[in-house]
Amino acid sequence: MLIHSASQLLTLAGGPQRGRALGTLGVIEKGAVLIRDEKIVQVGPTAELKASYPDEPSLDATGCVVMPGFVDPHTHLIWGGDRANEFEMKMAGARYLDILASGGGIISTVRATRTASIESLIAQTRPRLIRMFAHGTTTAEAKTGYGLQTATELRLLKALLALDDESPLDIAITFLGAHAIAPEFKDDPQGYTDLVCETMLPMLKEWWGTHAPKLTLPFVDVFCESQAFDLKQSRQILTKAGSLGFPLKIHADEFDNLGGASLAVELGAASADHLVKTSDADMAALGKSDTVAVALPCTPFGLAEKDYTPAHKLIEADAILALATDCNPGTSWNESMQFSIALACRYMGLTPAQAIAASTINSAHAIRRSDTIGSLEAGKQADLLILSVPDYRHLGYRYGTNLVKQVIKHGRVYSVDVGYYRSA
Ligand code: NIG
Ligand code: FE
Repeated sequence: MLIHSASQLLTLAGGPQRGRALGTLGVIEKGAVLIRDEKIVQVGPTAELKASYPDEPSLDATGCVVMPGFVDPHTHLIWGGDRANEFEMKMAGARYLDILASGGGIISTVRATRTASIESLIAQTRPRLIRMFAHGTTTAEAKTGYGLQTATELRLLKALLALDDESPLDIAITFLGAHAIAPEFKDDPQGYTDLVCETMLPMLKEWWGTHAPKLTLPFVDVFCESQAFDLKQSRQILTKAGSLGFPLKIHADEFDNLGGASLAVELGAASADHLVKTSDADMAALGKSDTVAVALPCTPFGLAEKDYTPAHKLIEADAILALATDCNPGTSWNESMQFSIALACRYMGLTPAQAIAASTINSAHAIRRSDTIGSLEAGKQADLLILSVPDYRHLGYRYGTNLVKQVIKHGRVYSVDVGYYRSA
């Protein structure tokens, strides 16, 4: 199939974009892309590709931007219930960490998740995935973490594997058994840390070998934060996970600076995420590493807080900056990377081009898939978007509606645009 005549085709070619290189879109005016067998064969000017492949079935993208599908590298996609009541409390002045300390927050979602069957968890998560896909996310990371006990964490993993199977969207799975201190261990955080290390992680390794033998091991993540896991406990968990061969991630500096970002660099983690209260030393460490700095602007927005990830300091430090939604029921119930881009432009000071690179090639690198997705280059997976806008700068500029017209995933075309008024 030849997708042709795009007003702008964004290739994002050349690999992850570090520091000031962020925002290199590789724009081809009147661009075209040839897709065969789920892969990209060639990218270039329409005139050239049409001449080389005159008989190819074609899809006309006149007036549209064609670009790689969004990669959302940080979501807590699977949970039971909702926390609309806490949103109301927060808007009336309650603080997120105080709600957590009083047994609400993550723990209230844990209660709703533990009592939900696998069928119910899948049914509650499926519409979120569909909304993500409709908004242009073609690959998403998804974390467990609302079980905090072995049986429920494994149920969440099983549900995520099933959702990955049924959905056109690809899911990169992360085990976040260390999302909060389990309620049973309220007064013994070290006891829960030891349980994660000595029981859950070894069991996960064995379980994965039987249930997903063809997939690489999932990421292991830790919420390194006051009221959750301190730096020593985070180190214990990630070191153990690393020794078992799991790739690593960390939640660092969302509310307090505990040194989690430097720990991520030291342990060779794929990414350090949130990074709102990150110190200059932590940023310097990120800049000298291959650990991607993942910013989640929907989270301070969702909590109505004023501090966002200091993107320009990270760029000056030469870090690889990425964006994600953090989709979760407590701080950011948002499935759209387009909205992350709009916020990143306004509150992190990114240009649309920088935010687009941070949501495609760099976010693919945050889940270690930048070799196969995140750009439009020969040999890569045919995951792309046709946007109903003539210029990429409409991303960021416009928000609150969906600019995606068609999603092409593994070379198959899915229509999103409603087109015109139609009644049954
Ligand atoms: O990334 N910080 C920890 N995890 C989520 C929030 C989860 C929740 O509140 O349910 C986050 O913001
Ligand atoms: Fe998170």
